[in-house]
Amino acid sequence: MKGVILAGGLGSRLGPLTHITNKHLLPVYDRPMIYFPLQTLVEAGIKDILLVTGGNHAGEFLRLLGNGEAFGLKHLHYTYQRGEGGIAQALGLAENFADGQPLVVILGDNILERSIRPHVERYAANGRGASVLLKEVGDPQRFGVAELQGDRIVSIEEKPKQPKSRYAVTGIYLYDAQVFEIVRGLKPSGRGELEITDVNNAYIRRGQMRYDILDGWWTDAGLPETLYRAATLVREKTLMRQAVA
Ligand code: DAU
Repeated sequence: MKGVILAGGLGSRLGPLTHITNKHLLPVYDRPMIYFPLQTLVEAGIKDILLVTGGNHAGEFLRLLGNGEAFGLKHLHYTYQRGEGGIAQALGLAENFADGQPLVVILGDNILERSIRPHVERYAANGRGASVLLKEVGDPQRFGVAELQGDRIVSIEEKPKQPKSRYAVTGIYLYDAQVFEIVRGLKPSGRGELEITDVNNAYIRRGQMRYDILDGWWTDAGLPETLYRAATLVREKTLMRQAVA
């Protein structure tokens, strides 16, 4: 499996912090935000990784990450998204890189406590269709929210006013090569973006979507409050590790 990190967009909800740097280069406790999704993929056994970035500070990713040597990689691929046409638009830029292989996709502002390796291995066992990772949250209105019937996911609504469950769709997605054909057929949403939720609903309509529930804490870091929360969670995890070592 190959990996894609989506770190495009303009991070406008983190202004003025993002006026002088890219959102994914901001510190989360002791490291730049982008380290976390990269570490998550590497830890899951993914070595062939594409970073999609954008905005005015894209060159800084090269300076920071190079070929991913600090993560044990031999090479890191990069591509550039103009503007912020949405998560699915950023993903569409990965088509050549994917070259027909299944993908693990992670949003550049998603930070997790635990490994996603078990989920990736379960998906890779047949590597067809799609799978999303869900997490029960107290504020589902901020996310894509899954409607579940037994062990089936029947729909996902993006930022619903009246969520049908408390299960947020986290920013980790597993897709086969159909994803690019689906992205090509998307129309921009009310907020002018190609939505990842529309991609996921297309897989649901095809009867090819599964889900897993994520263990451990999970947070995004795209708002002042969640950036602060992410730093606190990472700090606690780091201090706990140091105490055990
Ligand atoms: O964090 C999980 C949530 O992420 C999901 O539950 C939602 O379904 C999904 O739409 C997304 O919601 P957000 O509103 O949090 O997405 P946001 O616009 O903050 O973008 C998250 C990351 O996606 C961002 O850090 C970089 C990447 N992105 C985003 C846009 C808009 C891109 O690469 N290109 C883009 O154009």
